Amino acid sequence: MPIERPYASRMMQTEFQTELIEASSASIRRAADLLHSGQVVAFPTETVYGLGANALNAEAVARIFAAKGRPATDPLIVHLARVDQIEEYADVLTQSARTLMKAGFMPGPLTLIVQARELIPEVVRANQPTVGLRVPSHPVAHDLLTLSDLPIAAPSANLFAHISPTSARHVYDDLQGRIPLILDGGSSTIGLESTIVDVSGHIPRLLRPGGVTVEQLRAVLPEIEVVERFAAPDESDLSAPGQLFRHYAPRVPLTLYESDERLIADVGAALNQGLRVGVVIGGGAGGIGSLSSLLSSSALQVVEIGEDATQVAVGLYKTLRQLEQTSDVIYVRTLDGSGIGAAIRDRLIRAASGRIVR
Ligand code: TXA
Ligand code: MG
Repeated sequence: MPIERPYASRMMQTEFQTELIEASSASIRRAADLLHSGQVVAFPTETVYGLGANALNAEAVARIFAAKGRPATDPLIVHLARVDQIEEYADVLTQSARTLMKAGFMPGPLTLIVQARELIPEVVRANQPTVGLRVPSHPVAHDLLTLSDLPIAAPSANLFAHISPTSARHVYDDLQGRIPLILDGGSSTIGLESTIVDVSGHIPRLLRPGGVTVEQLRAVLPEIEVVERFAAPDESDLSAPGQLFRHYAPRVPLTLYESDERLIADVGAALNQGLRVGVVIGGGAGGIGSLSSLLSSSALQVVEIGEDATQVAVGLYKTLRQLEQTSDVIYVRTLDGSGIGAAIRDRLIRAASGRIVR
């Protein structure tokens, strides 16, 4: 299935000689200069790599949408160096916003949706009255924010609808020629996008599960509401930001399995059809043993990405990016859904466009 890039061809922009460079004080300085001149740069965060621009410069922010081929209806998260800066960009802070700011999750993998101040350009917010604010804990992201002294608007640094990047190489593979600079700060240590909580209204709402788990959130905000994110697969209405069903998807079809029997049967059937099959197993699922009768096939690649969910989160996107290169179909044995497992499950259901075999 080809990934959709509705705006990529229309908004064709300058060709860049993309530089992938190790993060150092000199290269972070260069990145800060590029941000000040209205350019975009990719940088590491603890969740995934971001594609950043000066959040106060609407033209610079438009370059993010152009480079990714991202529809203008999908708002961006604004990254800040320090938690106390949230007050500069949020119009009113609810009690639940203040609770989360003080709960010890920030800096870290948590994004707060708050009422936006006027100074945040509409292109950042996709014309919403709200804006997402996040204070990353990654030292390179922190240094870039501090040195540039700018709020940095940044989505994940992948082509629209593709898998988020957890290394500088992933960014290069998607965006080479489209952006001038990628700062390499090693692999992301969490591996999934931030938890998003809408604290702009009366009742806090969890919009996207992530590194800060729902259990952790409930401990400080018992009233938090979990929003069901899975709209119908054919949904074309993008007016509700973040509700796009097909998202984070590899370039070949992915199917989720909740039973070993069906997985083994379907692997066998696909191999018989001459397809190359990539299988991902992890986090307490049955393990490689049950597939052993099929393992002699060179068309079958089985990746066990770790026993505990934290490890699976770290390795998941890298594994999917590898398998989409070498497989015609990807089958994933599902994982238990508590803790960060909920975020893994959320991303997998999206990557599968809802194809779940029970
Ligand atoms: O970990 C992360 O959050 C990474 C790193 C780079 O910070 N960023 C990231 O950005 O994942 P992006 O753009 O790929 O995903 C942000 C999500 C989108 O689904 C967007 O719709 C939602 O946040 N979002 C942003 N602003 C919003 C708003 N005002 N209201 C509701 N959803 C919003
Ligand atoms: Mg993204």
